[in-house]
Amino acid sequence: MQVLASKIIVAGTGGTIAGRAAASADNIGYQAGSLSVGDVLQTLPRQAMDRLVEQGVYTSWEDVAQVDSKDMGPQVWALVLARLRQWLADPEVRAVVLTHGTDTIEETAWLLSTLLETHKPVVMTCAMRPATAWVPDGPQNLLDALAVACDPQARGVCVVASGVVHAAQWVQKVHPYQLDAFSSGDGGPLARVEEGQVRWFWKNEEKYHFSADINRESAIEFIVGNRSPWPRVEVVFSHAGATGHGVDALCEPREGFEPLRGLVVAGTGNGTVHEAMDQALRRAHGRGVLVWRCSRCVNGQVVHAGGSLNTRAKDSPPALWPAVALPPFKARLAMALTLMGQRA
Ligand code: SIN
Repeated sequence: MQVLASKIIVAGTGGTIAGRAAASADNIGYQAGSLSVGDVLQTLPRQAMDRLVEQGVYTSWEDVAQVDSKDMGPQVWALVLARLRQWLADPEVRAVVLTHGTDTIEETAWLLSTLLETHKPVVMTCAMRPATAWVPDGPQNLLDALAVACDPQARGVCVVASGVVHAAQWVQKVHPYQLDAFSSGDGGPLARVEEGQVRWFWKNEEKYHFSADINRESAIEFIVGNRSPWPRVEVVFSHAGATGHGVDALCEPREGFEPLRGLVVAGTGNGTVHEAMDQALRRAHGRGVLVWRCSRCVNGQVVHAGGSLNTRAKDSPPALWPAVALPPFKARLAMALTLMGQRA
């Protein structure tokens, strides 16, 4: 019989789950990341924690950061990645539960799932209401995350919110206010948590995994080493009336700014790009900027017809920019990780 390690680390990075408002009736005017994750754990019912102990599981906690996740970025990612690698290498550690703000949890989840080669569960969770709310959602989400962390079928990085387990690859925040704010789109959820039991639909590794030209080890070294700024990659959206002026402006060198290395264009529909923006992207490409396309649609991904990546059938020049099967902000991370392994 396989003996599972018994320790679960509950690590905090901030977010609304650790948010505090001046009034309990206030679900939106609060300071995210103002409580310690230890305080959040204290809000869980004693009996729930006793049940974990009965299963032979004990928890310890640590605040890795306390930020509003709108401000998430390379510095905190470096800390999180370094700590996770230490914890996951410890044979006593069975899983890590990582609390995070809802606003960018999908980006951190994607980054971690791409960089960490682990079968141990890294279960991310969050909340839409602050810890001080009359009826907060954080404690239930944290309990569900602990249930997933204890489940023998759990593998790798996932996000648990509102009773749903999402794959890092698919999860997106799709609502600014509702408690059920996340969707896995047409990929569908990995599992549901019901009364502390996990009902699986997929194994995490059965889900699609993005396979860009990312050198994991050198990207980890780059991020954790924190030696230089990340390659600068910006996201632009194509839309009716687009001009491409923004693309031209982004390419202009500016004192104190890293030179632009890449652009992800969130195209209309099947990744199409307004012709004015298309021209600007060609100019950017001519200046050595890497350009990728994806779709600005919430569901699905760019579909290639007969292998052609062209945006216009009539004049059919070979497309300069490949399409990636990721939403814009995950595509941006994928490009930054890819560029970390290349010289500027
Ligand atoms: C944040 O993302 O840190 C604030 C919003 C939230 O967690 O819901």
